[in-house]
Amino acid sequence: MHLTNQEKSILSGSQGEAARIALQILVDLGEIFGADEMIPVTQVHIDTTIYMVDAGVEFAERMAELGGKFVVPTQLHPSAIDLVRWKELRVDPELLEKSRRIERAYLQMGAMATWTCAPYQQGLIPRFGEQIAWGESNAIAFANSVIGARTNRYADLMDICAGIIGKGPRFGLHLSENRKAEILITLEGFTEEMFTDRAIYPLLGFVFGEIAADRIAALEGIPSGVPIDSLKAFSAAAASSGAVGLFHIIGVTPEAQTLEMCSQGEPLERFEITPAMLRNAEERLSDNKIGRPDLVVLGCPHFSEEEFVLLAQLLRGRQIHESITCWVFTSRKVYSLIETNDILKELQLVGVDVFTDGCPLQYPTKNWSFHSAMSDSGKFVNYCYSQTGLKVVYGSLDECVETAVAGKLYKERALWRTN
Ligand code: F3S
Repeated sequence: MHLTNQEKSILSGSQGEAARIALQILVDLGEIFGADEMIPVTQVHIDTTIYMVDAGVEFAERMAELGGKFVVPTQLHPSAIDLVRWKELRVDPELLEKSRRIERAYLQMGAMATWTCAPYQQGLIPRFGEQIAWGESNAIAFANSVIGARTNRYADLMDICAGIIGKGPRFGLHLSENRKAEILITLEGFTEEMFTDRAIYPLLGFVFGEIAADRIAALEGIPSGVPIDSLKAFSAAAASSGAVGLFHIIGVTPEAQTLEMCSQGEPLERFEITPAMLRNAEERLSDNKIGRPDLVVLGCPHFSEEEFVLLAQLLRGRQIHESITCWVFTSRKVYSLIETNDILKELQLVGVDVFTDGCPLQYPTKNWSFHSAMSDSGKFVNYCYSQTGLKVVYGSLDECVETAVAGKLYKERALWRTN
């Protein structure tokens, strides 16, 4: 890889040991992937924030001890816990202590305490064409596809190195020639009316991700005007069922105003998705025999202001059933907005618990007696059983609310479920 004089100097230790280690790791990674040089990135999203193993904590602490400082704006993915309301989540002392160590190390290096998996909906939002280094699958897919920013799928710890150096190796999705569609997926048997039901997007994303796998796929047939939160739900589900770092939706996402534009004129192998495939995905992901879920989980990825407004409307004048716990996860920024306009108070009064910073897949299972959960998130229902042991059922936001209020599972006869 060609290195500048400044990069060679960093490798010789001129900017300290943390910078030397970080750059060496990035160069080694770049050489494996055939990168010819490093490119500057304008911002970083660190995914290595959820406590999994001690190595993650120790690496962050070591880089901080060695004087590592983030040289570009660097934001943080969720912690394993709500760092403020951890008592309400019944977090174990050990997990709290490990999460605090991670928090201290990143803040010492100058990270922003965003603690959100929807960084594209608050503060530091990249622009079209901007070179960035982001970790976290849903955020990567959204940034590349919906915004048109450019990031590879930065692995854990690589994101820290990119923040310390302000650069990433130049390969993969950083380059225009690697962003073209490789396959075309068309929608067959859908009507425009079906897309007014938001519940369709997570399942569509899930099936799309299964077909795309690690290829860049273009999707044709979605009407324009898709709500941004539906694109968020699609990205998260697609990146959970496939290794999706970039997708194109023709007429919707910026690098795919036409098929010609995203395929760069090349013929593409074709696949199709039908309503029956969504029904099949729902059956595979969802246990409809659950008569009453113990827990309703919303905010995977983290809830936006718009989603809170919608939730408050759906719950106005009603009450969460005493047999059901309803959790919503969001960022600190959105939390402060709904605190200011009283939506938070309104939701709390009807029995909703709102958490920041954390991830519902990381809740301390053994400290709660839940057996089953319901969620409007394709990503959550995909991972729920394997990560938490809870049986899970999928439903739209409306269905989650109706279930939470009635105290028993509620499903609608949606058009795509019946046609
Ligand atoms: Fe976010 Fe956790 Fe879902 S990090 S995307 S809430 S699995």
